[in-house]
Amino acid sequence: MIIGILGAGKMAQMLVPKLVSAGHRVILSNSRGPASLEALVEQLGPGVSAAESTQMLVDADLVFLATPWEKTAAAVAAAGSWTGKTVIDTTNNRRGPRPVDLIDIGSRGSSEIVSELLPGAQVVKSFNYEPIPVFAAGLPPEGDSGAVFFSGDDASAKAKVAELIRDIGGEPIDAGTLAEGGKLHGMGGPLSLKLSLLPPKEARALLAAARLA
Ligand SMILES: NC(=O)c1ccc[n+]([C@@H]2O[C@H](COP(=O)([O-])OP(=O)(O)OC[C@H]3O[C@@H](n4cnc5c(N)ncnc54)[C@H](OP(=O)(O)O)[C@@H]3O)[C@@H](O)[C@H]2O)c1
Repeated sequence: MIIGILGAGKMAQMLVPKLVSAGHRVILSNSRGPASLEALVEQLGPGVSAAESTQMLVDADLVFLATPWEKTAAAVAAAGSWTGKTVIDTTNNRRGPRPVDLIDIGSRGSSEIVSELLPGAQVVKSFNYEPIPVFAAGLPPEGDSGAVFFSGDDASAKAKVAELIRDIGGEPIDAGTLAEGGKLHGMGGPLSLKLSLLPPKEARALLAAARLA
């Protein structure tokens, strides 16, 4: 696939080598334009390019959102029409890692809010619930797979995302709808901040217990 990433910071740079190793092409974009990403693209190597977010969105089969929460609404609006796109929302409603950095968004899950910003897109939430180094270390190219929770409302988008998670060395664990699963593995949810990617059996048991709680 051609995979677009909106945002080219820590999350994007963790994902890119794994996506490229799995045979995908990646287009990075940010607010400052592709020239600002030249050195990064060179450093990341073959299979990676940079484009304006508008072009990235046209070309990509699937797009990761990897922007800071407070920049996300403007970033997605500037990129153009999201109709028909599968989107993996990695964003969290926080400014940083401390409890005080949490941004109050009321009772809805953050990806439900993001989904409303993307009319016509199929949004799947994933890669949000652990610090980036945990995903970096927990998705080995070979060997035992770390469990990766995902949630969403569209079955075909979820199947695409599950395949992508497998491609990069993870075991996809379907946590349910964006509303239900999104809260379970949203920041502060019972599936978040375990500080390692769990073995799949353990992850499924934790999910079942979280649903009953
Ligand atoms: N840090 C973690 O451990 C972690 C874990 C899970 C999830 N997350 C979530 O992942 C998301 C990204 O985090 P990060 O740590 O990768 O952030 P980051 O390193 O600060 O990178 C953010 C990227 O977004 C770009 N950006 C900012 N405004 C933009 C706009 N209007 N349009 C397009 N691009 C824009 C920035 O580039 P320019 O400023 O040059 O545009 C930068 O490349 C956040 O929502 C965060 O909560 C983070």
